[in-house]
Amino acid sequence: MKYENVTIFDHPLIQHKISFLRDKNTGSKDFRQLVDEIAMLMAYEVTRDLPLKEVEVETPIAKAMARQLAGPKITLVPVLRAGLGMVHGIESLIPTVRIGHIGLYRDHETLEPVEYYCKLPEEVKEGLTIVLDPMLATGGSASAAIRFLKEKGAKHIKLMNIIGAKTGVERILKDHPDVPIYCGTVDEVLNSNGYINPGLGDAGDRLFGTL
Ligand code: PRP
Ligand code: URA
Repeated sequence: MKYENVTIFDHPLIQHKISFLRDKNTGSKDFRQLVDEIAMLMAYEVTRDLPLKEVEVETPIAKAMARQLAGPKITLVPVLRAGLGMVHGIESLIPTVRIGHIGLYRDHETLEPVEYYCKLPEEVKEGLTIVLDPMLATGGSASAAIRFLKEKGAKHIKLMNIIGAKTGVERILKDHPDVPIYCGTVDEVLNSNGYINPGLGDAGDRLFGTL
């Protein structure tokens, strides 16, 4: 499967860890750790095009020119609840990130996203904003989250998911063609309840032990 503006990760470490996430016998503690580690590994690629500036530093031997992140700051926006599981791994790589929150749940009947919380830092207007959600199923939640961010003035948005479905990927490409998608892997289908098949089940429930 090849889409323009979509990066699907073929890195062996990411694929290895996703296999344990999918396994129904993986408990919440390990599930949280795996989501954390996968998000950290994915962040390496998502941040590949961050601007750098030249700086002079003094090593114990001599002056040296080096490169540092030029800013402006990056904003992480986890979609509650499951997106929260991806924050820590990225924050440990980039401790200066700002964090906004968007609360959405899918109505079980209509599968439409229902908003219950939205708090975003002013800085979403500048720099890179990364929307975090392990699951991209119908794409309704991610599309709504990106819409809120655009209404708040965000211009440079990327979407990071661990497991996507073709339906969700195609929905985002249609609704937000300017937003690059980074997906650990993409499954072919949704089941009749709108769950990704085979997917990993309900990411929020598995992360927070609310089955
Ligand atoms: C899950 C998931 C996404 C959404 C994906 O959240 O974390 O936000 O479903 O589905 P979609 O692409 O069809 O919109 P859920 O609604 O289960 O809320 P929760 O994280 O609070 O459990
Ligand atoms: N939300 C989840 O947590 N899992 C799915 O498969 C679809 C939506």
